[in-house]
Amino acid sequence: MSDMNTPRLSFDWTRAQDVCPVESKMSEHFAKVCEGSQSLLNKTGAGADFTGWTSLLEADPAAALSPSVELATRIAQQSDAVVVVGIGGSNLGAKAVFDALSHSYAADLPPQKRSAPQLYWAGNHLATDEAAELLDALEGHTPSLIVISKSGTTTEPALAFRILKSYMDQRFGVAESAARIFCVTDPKGGTLKKLADENDWPRLEIPPDVGGRYSVFTPCGLLPLAAAGIDVEAFVTGARDAGLAATRSENRSLETNPALCYAALRNALYSEGYKVEAHCTWTPKLRTVSEWWKQLFGESDAKENSGLYPASACFTTDLHSLGQYFQDGERHLFATHIKILKEASVAQGALARSLTIPKAAGLNDGFEFLNGKELSLVQHHAQEATFLAHADGKCPTVVWNLPERNAYWLGYWMYSQMIACAVGGYARGINPFDQPGVEDYKRNMFALIGKSGFESKRDEIQQRIERGRRLQSFGPTAG
Ligand code: PA5
Repeated sequence: MSDMNTPRLSFDWTRAQDVCPVESKMSEHFAKVCEGSQSLLNKTGAGADFTGWTSLLEADPAAALSPSVELATRIAQQSDAVVVVGIGGSNLGAKAVFDALSHSYAADLPPQKRSAPQLYWAGNHLATDEAAELLDALEGHTPSLIVISKSGTTTEPALAFRILKSYMDQRFGVAESAARIFCVTDPKGGTLKKLADENDWPRLEIPPDVGGRYSVFTPCGLLPLAAAGIDVEAFVTGARDAGLAATRSENRSLETNPALCYAALRNALYSEGYKVEAHCTWTPKLRTVSEWWKQLFGESDAKENSGLYPASACFTTDLHSLGQYFQDGERHLFATHIKILKEASVAQGALARSLTIPKAAGLNDGFEFLNGKELSLVQHHAQEATFLAHADGKCPTVVWNLPERNAYWLGYWMYSQMIACAVGGYARGINPFDQPGVEDYKRNMFALIGKSGFESKRDEIQQRIERGRRLQSFGPTAG
């Protein structure tokens, strides 16, 4: 990717600077981010025992990939559907890349047009209808399960796995069901590891020094993606190139280092009173990429009652709803866009498409002047129009320009985000690798569902819930 003519990723913050002139403060923020980068690489910062994902820079990508690719080949040979069971970091990275690169309607295509197993997702919620409906959908398939949990003890995937295993046992018999179960978990311990070892289910490892939201380049992301036929080699190569570009000592400038520049800009805008960052995408295919990004920055940044709130919008759809807030709402929001320069990009299970707006008989609706034009041209003008409108509305606009929507550039961009998140957190003096806040609801839930060890909290929590219920007793009486 070093050829001068090769398309490159770029990061454009001109319109942020137009709205909120932070340029004079950027060198100070950038210097702190560069110090953060040193701490990350030297493993001297807070949470250093969760920075194993940076070793991707040293590892041979092919060697790192082969266990996932080998197992994925076996899974794809025996299944036309794979249910990926996991939540948070054990779900979002793989789902983001799959949704971005797959045919949007793969499940509805005739079987001869499907090139790889369809992925389904479970264990990422506790919703009854959704869980039950998945079993309906599996009836027409010969599925396998990939169960992912670093800790091996998380409630949502554990319950989904119980439901799915019971379904598979009944449908295929226990022996064949066992041949359809694959696990990804921490090699050092946890219930899932124990179960996998006892039952001889093939098991891949999430390294102990990689936390959930930084794990998409481990088997946690790579096994499901490889099973779905995504080009994981290109994905990891993109990440590696991004890591090298972000950490090269000669790249220590705002002009040459998009990842560190982005980290510094986020911190600069935050200190100028911008408390919300909206991640804006321009295709429904990237909606889950926003969800991955929200987890990465949400859990990493939000510490000690501080941190940017990571929000998202998918345009042009949300220009017809949230667009009003971007334009005229409280001025505490900045927008970070992903713009795909080559709108029609090669996606797994689909060809690069172009769509010309056709002449349609009888449709004299005032849009005839666009007949014969590419739909992507209208999208391009909508983007430029939005950037200008938001600048006029004093909403700082930041743009990541990605050459194409493909595995390489997604890997490149996602790894850049991981670096930016870690070093930006260090620059703010927080630990970007822990998430103590997410444990609070779990303690309450465990007490309520009767998990052993949480008995003493149960009465107190029940009383607090009753208090809340009295406040809700104003509606019509049922029956
Ligand atoms: O980023 C994180 O650490 C979390 O979101 C976890 O990924 C999530 O809670 C799932 O945990 P586990 O993989 O242990 O089941």
